[in-house]
Amino acid sequence: MSRAEKIKSITKRIQGLPTLPPVVRKITALVESPDVTAQEVGKLISSDQVLSAKVLKLVNSPFYGFPGRISSISHAVILLGFNVIKGVVLSASVFEIMETSMVGLWAHSLGSAIASGTIARALGLSEPEEISTAALLHDIGKVLVRVSLPAEYNRIARIVEAEGRSFRDAETEVLGVDHAEIGLWLSREWGMPERLTVPISLHHEPEAATKFKDRVAVVHIADTLIRAFGVGSGGDPWVGRIRPAAWDAIGMDRIDLVGLMREILSGLEEVENLQL
Ligand SMILES: [Fe+2]
Ligand SMILES: [Fe+2]
Repeated sequence: MSRAEKIKSITKRIQGLPTLPPVVRKITALVESPDVTAQEVGKLISSDQVLSAKVLKLVNSPFYGFPGRISSISHAVILLGFNVIKGVVLSASVFEIMETSMVGLWAHSLGSAIASGTIARALGLSEPEEISTAALLHDIGKVLVRVSLPAEYNRIARIVEAEGRSFRDAETEVLGVDHAEIGLWLSREWGMPERLTVPISLHHEPEAATKFKDRVAVVHIADTLIRAFGVGSGGDPWVGRIRPAAWDAIGMDRIDLVGLMREILSGLEEVENLQL
């Protein structure tokens, strides 16, 4: 079976996760329409109180660099843009599953989002909020497998634990594809733009990026650093190396690594009590 056929056969069996709450589906569709305004999007989000509260908590968290300064949903939409808001709304719903049954991955995702935002801002990259959002969603493929294919997920986890192999390796053995490919499929299904889907799909192989190389590199580096800091669980029993292609893509000499680490650590402390 080719990789394309494998991913097709896996995704055909997946039915659980992509059923998002109706309001979330409406919001993600609305932000795609060409002449929608920030007010309209804000109004729709505000119609759901629980979702609004979650969105406000997320946008005021340290990932986005405006802690405690965004008081209304329409302000959030204007400040962060439609793509980020869409990512935030999706994260807020999807991560409910993580918060209850995949706590380690939830902490890993939040940590990666903080680290990505910090690195992107240190490098002066445009739209650091979008890069944080890609990092927040980078391991979404794992959630999908856990929810929709629980027997397979348990087999993967057992292989990792018993044989000390990488999570991706075990996924490929059991499913024929890994969570990065599944994440790409899901984020496309959800209508995410390439600026988010490319870093999600290539976060483990930044050398394969032909576009958005800097974004892919930032998410890859953040993912690795957060594992090295021991925050949450990235899935593997060890911390992998940062691939040289990622350093090349961002220009390692452009950053003060020690200062960056300190900043990431203080962002992590701030978010420690963040309950969505
Ligand atoms: Fe991953
Ligand atoms: Fe990860």
